Amino acid sequence: MDPVRNPYAPGAGQRPPELAGRGRELDVFDVVLERVARGRPERSLVLTGLRGVGKTVLLNTLRSAAIGRLWGTGKIEARPDQSLRRPMAAALHMAVRELAPHHRAPDRIDDFLGVLKAFAQRAPIGGKSPRLRDRWQPGIDVAATVGRADSGDIEIDLVELLGDAADVAADVGTGLAVFIDEMQDLGPEEVSALCAACHELSQSGAPLIVVGAGLPHLPAVLSAAKSYSERLFRYQRIDRLDRVAADQALCAPAGREEVEYEQKALDVLYEKSGGYPYFVQAYGKATWDHAPRSPITDADVRVAAPEAEAELAVGFFGSRFERATPAEREYMRAMAGLSLAGAESTGQTRDDMDVAVPTAEIARALGRKPASLSPARDALIKKGLIYSGERGTVAFTVPHFGRYLRTQPA
Ligand SMILES: Nc1ncnc2c1ncn2[C@@H]1O[C@H](COP(=O)(O)OP(=O)(O)OP(=O)(O)O)[C@@H](O)[C@H]1O
Ligand SMILES: [Mg+2]
Repeated sequence: MDPVRNPYAPGAGQRPPELAGRGRELDVFDVVLERVARGRPERSLVLTGLRGVGKTVLLNTLRSAAIGRLWGTGKIEARPDQSLRRPMAAALHMAVRELAPHHRAPDRIDDFLGVLKAFAQRAPIGGKSPRLRDRWQPGIDVAATVGRADSGDIEIDLVELLGDAADVAADVGTGLAVFIDEMQDLGPEEVSALCAACHELSQSGAPLIVVGAGLPHLPAVLSAAKSYSERLFRYQRIDRLDRVAADQALCAPAGREEVEYEQKALDVLYEKSGGYPYFVQAYGKATWDHAPRSPITDADVRVAAPEAEAELAVGFFGSRFERATPAEREYMRAMAGLSLAGAESTGQTRDDMDVAVPTAEIARALGRKPASLSPARDALIKKGLIYSGERGTVAFTVPHFGRYLRTQPA
């Protein structure tokens, strides 16, 4: 069918033509916004899930919902080894700019921007003083204030900064939401500081929330930083789509183009995608391009599947695999072999069920001492390719990754 009208959108953070199966999360968020705006106690939200399940897309949708209620919003994508100061300053700058037109006292906004600038420019305690070319100008044309959010201790500074930002939102009668994607990549001190700030804000009923998204071990990262984090955040596991939602993700956009699927075509599509949103989009896109006419049949899906798989092998799996060193690849291959064996022993017949694997077994399979493999494991966790959900085990963050590796030549 006409590729120009192809509605599907495989790709990181690509807005899907139909956001299927996330009604519950959107409803929960609406309640959170309403409660926070009314000064009711509310926990910050954290979305967790595997790669490609739609965390970024959902985060962006929640942000739109907040904007729709005239909230100020800003977004950060955390990166390993990057300080939170500048991205946080930029996100809050944006959020407060959205509120400024509704504010009756422009000098209150300027006061806040002065604090924001001081926060952004403050180097960490004991850190090297910034070199000239590193001196970053946050594009704020008020003078930096002295004595607030500029101690150099990220925890103290963040508590003060977010508190002041919340006050600006309270003046306007709305709220502020800061969205943090890839939250597991924040450094330990920053996670700790962020927890402290959220704790403070929720105690004072301040209208500011943090909405995070990250890999499945994010709750463990947060509770390692602050033991009270479990009570601070509401965790929402973002999972693959069930059959009804996956069908809707395919059929609703097609319907708008007056294209239909035969039931059997949807059966095969679900079998292939496993309901993982990225795969739903990838198989949907290839199938559309190959199908000669509506309704789309199961034969069309089967003809198109190899092309979808080839694209996934490059764009979804390969791009990640390439980030690993030879030693790390060896580690993951051993994991892939063991996770297949593990899946079979629990009676799961489909080899796409990558189960968590004990690290001791990986060492045994590779004939190595467990300690000698720790650097590879830690590097893979840092690169976001694997995670450790339960102590002493690891699993792939990328769905179907084991299956992909088992088809790759060593
Ligand atoms: N609810 C949904 N319905 C249909 N398609 C979706 C849905 N959510 C996400 N998608 C599609 O899935 C793909 C992946 O989405 P997204 O990039 O948000 O995943 P992610 O969880 O952030 O992945 P990563 O961990 O790699 O960042 C995109 O192509 C998007 O269009
Ligand atoms: Mg993402």
